[in-house]
Amino acid sequence: MLPIVAVQEKYAASYRACLDVVAREKRYLAQIEALPLERIEGFVKDSVAADAIQFFALNQEEVVGWADIFPSWPHAVAHCGSLGMGVHPNYRGQGLGSRLLSACIQKAWAKGLTRIVLQARADNLHAIALYEKFGFKNEALKSQAMRFDGEYFDAVQMRLLRDEA
Ligand SMILES: CC(C)(COP(=O)(O)OP(=O)(O)OC[C@H]1O[C@@H](n2cnc3c(N)ncnc32)[C@H](O)[C@@H]1OP(=O)(O)O)[C@@H](O)C(=O)NCCC(=O)NCCS
Repeated sequence: MLPIVAVQEKYAASYRACLDVVAREKRYLAQIEALPLERIEGFVKDSVAADAIQFFALNQEEVVGWADIFPSWPHAVAHCGSLGMGVHPNYRGQGLGSRLLSACIQKAWAKGLTRIVLQARADNLHAIALYEKFGFKNEALKSQAMRFDGEYFDAVQMRLLRDEA
């Protein structure tokens, strides 16, 4: 079984490469390419320092999937975290997404978050099925929330409450 590990600086470049592959699919993530390596390195460094809710799936020390939940900072919404995730296309359907999500949710609750939110393109049925499996509920359909090459797509906003989990 491939390992799931907490964020570490040594995986920054590999994480960026995996993120870039998924972003370039131009269908699932809001970004269509990864940020430059220096930005990712800084971001990963900050994540490690903050003991962030961020996990990587590895195959022989290469990142093949990631999931993270970043808390909001203002006081009244500091109990909320935003989920993002992706698995390299060659590694989907093997349970990595579920294991990454499970690790993130457990750590989110342990760190005191009580609400996790995400936005998924409304036609991203695999992702939505995964989130529903974990108890996420659909909160809103956001019209024309995403745009790729001039074409608009609706998105669903989903949430998981600790009280309901
Ligand atoms: C969504 C994603 C992270 C799921 O990762 P994964 O490793 O494939 O997930 P798993 O193998 O753990 O499968 C989890 C659930 O997803 C759904 N799923 C995954 N692959 C599926 C498939 N081929 N057909 C139907 N459902 C599928 C199922 O509900 C599955 O649960 P089950 O195995 O108990 O039936 C992955 O498909 C991905 O990276 N997609 C592109 C990026 C993306 O969509 N990110 C999220 C943006 S909101």
